Amino acid sequence: MDESTIQDVTERLEGREYIKGKNGKIFVLREFEITDLNTVVSINRRVLPENYPEFFFVEHYRSFPKAFIVSELDGKVVGYMMNRVEFGWSYIWKGKPTRKGHVISIGVLPEARRLGIAYNMMIRGMRAMKYFYGAEEVYLEVRVSNTPAINLYKKLNYKIVDLIRGYYHDGEDAYIMARPLDNL
Ligand SMILES: CC(C)(COP(=O)(O)OP(=O)(O)OC[C@H]1O[C@@H](n2cnc3c(N)ncnc32)[C@H](O)[C@@H]1OP(=O)(O)O)[C@@H](O)C(=O)NCCC(=O)NCCS
Repeated sequence: MDESTIQDVTERLEGREYIKGKNGKIFVLREFEITDLNTVVSINRRVLPENYPEFFFVEHYRSFPKAFIVSELDGKVVGYMMNRVEFGWSYIWKGKPTRKGHVISIGVLPEARRLGIAYNMMIRGMRAMKYFYGAEEVYLEVRVSNTPAINLYKKLNYKIVDLIRGYYHDGEDAYIMARPLDNL
């Protein structure tokens, strides 16, 4: 087995991953299961103005199951991160067609915030997009006023690569932020 094969195996994370949060409590990361659907839909409605019908979540689960991550704290699902992988022009290497991971939605309930849950879901989701689905970079849209999320992405080495005026239904602009999927 050569070195790249070894790395491939170790980074293909599946199942339950136990992580110590900033308050010393353990939280769990795992793949979404269909029985999580109602909880994830309700978290999405509680924490974000961008709400999707149930089938949208189910389609992402069916298409990219390893990259749909939930977090559990004290046995309850408190956060989710839903992703997909697309083919298109790179935001990083101009003019290069590439497989791009796309962070569709991420949210953590207010009572479970600032423990490192979103940060660790992002790492796991990015690894899944790279190692299971072949993405070479990852991008996302974020409201220009969403400082917590922008800080989270900056901490993960995302850079602002574009601005889309009036992207959201209320007219707010979006930054596109992106990073290569190396060093994961
Ligand atoms: C953004 C969000 C997902 C962060 O979740 P979280 O689990 O609290 O984030 P983490 O604990 O992993 O924080 C990681 C880093 O993000 C940044 N961050 C998170 N919350 C922040 C806040 N309220 N203010 C400033 N920076 C913040 C910090 O850099 C933080 O690192 P630090 O705690 O070492 O300073 C959460 O606030 C949320 O669900 N917000 C509503 C939904 C949303 O905006 N989703 C993103 C849409 S693009």
